[in-house]
Amino acid sequence: MAGEGKTSAISGFYKLTRGERIAKVAEMASLTDGQKKQLASDCPLGFEVAGRMAENALGVSAMPLCVATNFRVNSREVLVPMAIEEPSVVAAASNGAKLCRDTGGFFAVADAPVMVGQVQLVGLKDAGKAVRELNSKKAEIIKAAEPYAAGIAKYGGGIRGFAARALPTERGEMAIAEFDVDVRDSMGANTINTKLEGVAPKIEEVSGGKVRLRILSNLAVKRLVKAKAVWKRDTIGADSVDGVLDGFAFADVDIYRACTHNKGIMNGIDAVCVATGNDWRAIEAGAHAFAASGGRYRSLTRFRKLPNGDLEGEIELPMAVGIVGGATRSLPSAQAALAILGVKTSQELACIIASVGLAQNFAALRALSGEGIQRGHMGLHAKNLAIAAGASGGEADSIAAMMISENDISAKKASELLEKERTKK
Ligand code: MEV
Repeated sequence: MAGEGKTSAISGFYKLTRGERIAKVAEMASLTDGQKKQLASDCPLGFEVAGRMAENALGVSAMPLCVATNFRVNSREVLVPMAIEEPSVVAAASNGAKLCRDTGGFFAVADAPVMVGQVQLVGLKDAGKAVRELNSKKAEIIKAAEPYAAGIAKYGGGIRGFAARALPTERGEMAIAEFDVDVRDSMGANTINTKLEGVAPKIEEVSGGKVRLRILSNLAVKRLVKAKAVWKRDTIGADSVDGVLDGFAFADVDIYRACTHNKGIMNGIDAVCVATGNDWRAIEAGAHAFAASGGRYRSLTRFRKLPNGDLEGEIELPMAVGIVGGATRSLPSAQAALAILGVKTSQELACIIASVGLAQNFAALRALSGEGIQRGHMGLHAKNLAIAAGASGGEADSIAAMMISENDISAKKASELLEKERTKK
């Protein structure tokens, strides 16, 4: 969605009806009629598409497609589609984003989209010698691999590097040949894997070994993204600044907490990946491996107090996401989600996703270190139970409120209250 200028925060989006929300998003993101229809559909993925996407399909598994508001990323207003079943995640992300708007929102930068592909060589008499041979013939090997990277070269991508290394394992010493490939706006798995399989015979010829695995690495350390934001002490309160810092300090030294802390970050990141048809398992694997890559599993974010008392937060992690190919293209809802985001490159998408992760973490730490998360969480949970019991519109809100005040938030209570309410009418 376009929007370079200074605009005010959106409030009360959650109070709009579904139709009003879609109309607002469509207006802000200049969606086409087709995209609006797609968002309004109760069957966003027909079986004719689903049945072709994966084997033995029986039907379609659905998830709420929501939108987080108030994100300003690199001076651009963005509405962020998030597909997630967990209550509070979208509200928390939107709140985290809203509270740093007065300092300009999020500032993010993504590396060039370079992925690493690995070729495993076994059966070597002398792995060190094979590695030397491979490295000395780097130019020849890259030349042999280039025809398999022709597709991505058309878009300005291509092979950016090659190096081999020896690897001692329980099955003897192996050699690992690694290619760096700029995959442009794709996630890159297909581009890399096709190229690795194509060039494997050349690698065998040069090394004298036997090629086994040929696959990209999801630890995309050459495709990192960093996002930063500042929350003013006067906006969030001095106790929130300290609360977030205390929460971060805990995660920084304790793996049990760091795991949950990072899970909260991934709540937001995964939700955008799912909404845009990106491989969230790859992002998860890369994020956690990166978090552990210093020899100790740590937080993906860092927070510090600025000299003026404001809170600065930062996130850094690998972000191998695409805006072309794969499910981003075949899932109609992913196309609509990308249109809402209005991103032109995979790097731009990476910057937004990292900002969501940071907003999510800030909001979680602020809530956890203050009033706790259960009040907000249970409010939404109560509303979900009321809806599941059959309540609609304002009825769901009042039944949820009654469950909260009676301190009994359960499916049984929701049904009882609904029945009572309806007999009153
Ligand atoms: C729940 O899905 C996520 C949190 O546990 C994250 C955190 O503890 O930081 C609230």
